[in-house]
Amino acid sequence: MNARIAESFYDVARVRADFPILSTSVRGKRLAFLDTAASAQRPLAVIEAVDCYERTSHANVHRGVYQLSQKATDAFEGARERVRRFLNASSLKEVVFTRGTTESINLVAQSWGQRLGPGDEILITWMEHHANIVPWQMLCQRTGATLKVAPIDRRGELDLATFKALLSNRTKLVAFTQVSNALGTVLPIKDMIAAARAAGALVLIDGAQAVAHQRVDVQALDCDFYAFSSHKLYGPTGIGVLWARESVLREMPPWQGGGDMILTVSFSGTTYNDLPYRFEAGTPNISGAVGLAAAIDYLDALGIERAHAHEQRLLKRATAALKAIDGLQIIGEANEKSGVISFVLDGVHPHDLGTILDDEGVAVRTGHHCAMPVMDFFDVPATARASFGCYSDDADIDQLVRALGRAREVFG
Ligand SMILES: Cc1ncc(COP(=O)(O)O)c(C=O)c1O
Repeated sequence: MNARIAESFYDVARVRADFPILSTSVRGKRLAFLDTAASAQRPLAVIEAVDCYERTSHANVHRGVYQLSQKATDAFEGARERVRRFLNASSLKEVVFTRGTTESINLVAQSWGQRLGPGDEILITWMEHHANIVPWQMLCQRTGATLKVAPIDRRGELDLATFKALLSNRTKLVAFTQVSNALGTVLPIKDMIAAARAAGALVLIDGAQAVAHQRVDVQALDCDFYAFSSHKLYGPTGIGVLWARESVLREMPPWQGGGDMILTVSFSGTTYNDLPYRFEAGTPNISGAVGLAAAIDYLDALGIERAHAHEQRLLKRATAALKAIDGLQIIGEANEKSGVISFVLDGVHPHDLGTILDDEGVAVRTGHHCAMPVMDFFDVPATARASFGCYSDDADIDQLVRALGRAREVFG
């Protein structure tokens, strides 16, 4: 869809009315919620779906023959089917529910990663979230494999040539984010996947910052693993997804043992359940899955492309407005960006800045954004980060700019 046409139909006031929290106030001020990259707010449709499940359908899943348990199982498995369609996965067996992106990546590191040994390499990029760094460091410590890191440049873009040069037949897995949470950079994942495939490596994509802003088709992407969290997608916390290619998942050993992931258990040995249950030990987050399905329905009805076009317009406007502020430096100026702006203000520590903005009702994230290597690269201890979602509007930007003016006054 043409971005301009898509955006012209976008009624942000109506969208905002779907999110009850946006009409609350903070310290007597209008709430300008600009921390969607950390966790998105929930629309009424999600809140009500979870509420309805809790009131009418809750029981444990996959276990009871009684009607309520079957109802809960239908809701849970219905949510899996909703995720399958959302990602255009070819089979339900490929959709594993986890606690979120972090757990999805740890699952791959602990299960698939067992096959690695000395001489094997994993390639990541310099702009990964800690969730896509630390599990691989731990895996390398356990197995003797080596972690390689593709560099970035001062604009916050990946050095694609060096990324490709770091690939070899030793590379067993390439794991990268689709969108940087700290910089907003949209990575050239098509080229990266093609290069990784040519080197014979598997590909894991951290989709945490992407799924709510662009349509994802795991078959078209031709990756092997795709991880995301529901709470970045307007759904509940504590639930997320690991999508994995069935042929890859089938060869992976279970990573956590317990109920639901087994077929038979005896003291002489245990046999494991079929996919995807083999990777879902214990009672799952059933209401979370119901909420995630409702969030996907909501975003689909809204139109992910239309929301994206709206966010891109806000990004442009906010970037121009922030650049006009004396002493403000934007960290991360990639050509293609998602609705994320990291910045520092001369002479003001980001944490102090965050406190002043909060006084003005503006919620932004301050800190290292779980991307300390990015902070090191830009030689800053932390940044302030404003990020947009489908409900963000021009008034949020105006309020942010006014609050930054106030911070300038306070700190001189
Ligand atoms: C790019 C990226 N990857 C991974 C994560 C971790 O997500 P979660 O904490 O939901 O597991 C985040 C969260 O901010 C993120 O932005």
